[in-house]
Amino acid sequence: MCLNINQNKFVVTAPSNIALVKYWGKRDQQLPINQSVSFTLSNSVTSIDCEYEYSSAGLVLDFIFEGDNGLSSSSSSSSNSNSNFKTRVLKYLESLIPQYSFLNKLKLKIISKNSFPHSAGIASSASFYAALAKVIVLLKERITKQVCNLEDRLIETSYLARLGSGSASRSIYPGVVCWGESNLLKSSNEYATRIVDFHENFRDYADAILIVDDGVKSVSSSTGHQLMSNHPYKLQRIERANARSLALFEVLKSGDVKKFGEIVEAEALELHGLMMSSNPPYILLRPNSLNVIESIKKFREEESIPCCFTMDAGPNVHLLYPNSYHKAVSSFIERELAGKYILSWIEDKVCYEF
Ligand code: PMV
Repeated sequence: MCLNINQNKFVVTAPSNIALVKYWGKRDQQLPINQSVSFTLSNSVTSIDCEYEYSSAGLVLDFIFEGDNGLSSSSSSSSNSNSNFKTRVLKYLESLIPQYSFLNKLKLKIISKNSFPHSAGIASSASFYAALAKVIVLLKERITKQVCNLEDRLIETSYLARLGSGSASRSIYPGVVCWGESNLLKSSNEYATRIVDFHENFRDYADAILIVDDGVKSVSSSTGHQLMSNHPYKLQRIERANARSLALFEVLKSGDVKKFGEIVEAEALELHGLMMSSNPPYILLRPNSLNVIESIKKFREEESIPCCFTMDAGPNVHLLYPNSYHKAVSSFIERELAGKYILSWIEDKVCYEF
């Protein structure tokens, strides 16, 4: 293969996403056991600076994460976790060599930066692997001179992102995105699909990310996925999540923001219920997660604002709402939550177009 490399530097970015129906549990090569649906975010983004050159020594990775290459002599936990992260990224890239043999002839320097703080309740693995997948597709195009059409390119990028982190498959598309096989949508387990058919009521949604706890989680999402393999409610969960995705698509089409909230909240609580009923059981919610949820319910009733909460596998709460209520929601957060139940909060919005 001819390594015709001229311009050997580029930058890519990819956003995170917030799941409305959660991917929880996997099989084989990172295939989901159920369908998931998400909103792609605007401001929570990973950017990767990539520099590449020919290597006669096989794939060589120089990985710098937020200014730390994980090689520091300090034994701080952040340095250790960066070094673990580098190992995971290298393993991921090596696993792709059978399909993407050009990787084995490259020295890659990757500098990754997030626009959002660590442990902020924002899925950084989703934005990171989506960005890394873009890097691989760009490298392939530059090095092998094989360029495919836009649709195939997006499918390939989503497929590669999925192999890094399942939820990353959805970050390749803006707006509402689904991942997991469905006859109705003709969607796939291998890569995500963009949903374009939704009501204008959902065309300007915001996400206030309420940080209850910014510490490292006691149980990782990978362990959570593994615990679903022998979960006592596994079969019911698969059925319920797939049915919930279908119900959500209907609501997204009809524009019923109240029903949307009911589905999204039931799903978030079910995710945490699955953790509490795993073997061994565990709890990632903190007392203030529940205080935040109760406050949101009260605010919604008192002010008739169609906002709803969701959570990923962690203690922090995402407050989703039509952006037209931005002022009322911001003042609620400042008045009722900030400094009382939450450490800080991040304003984000759904990204509808890249
Ligand atoms: O993509 P992973 O392996 O980080 O798992 C993501 C799991 C959840 O965030 C809890 C749900 C989801 O669909 O994003």
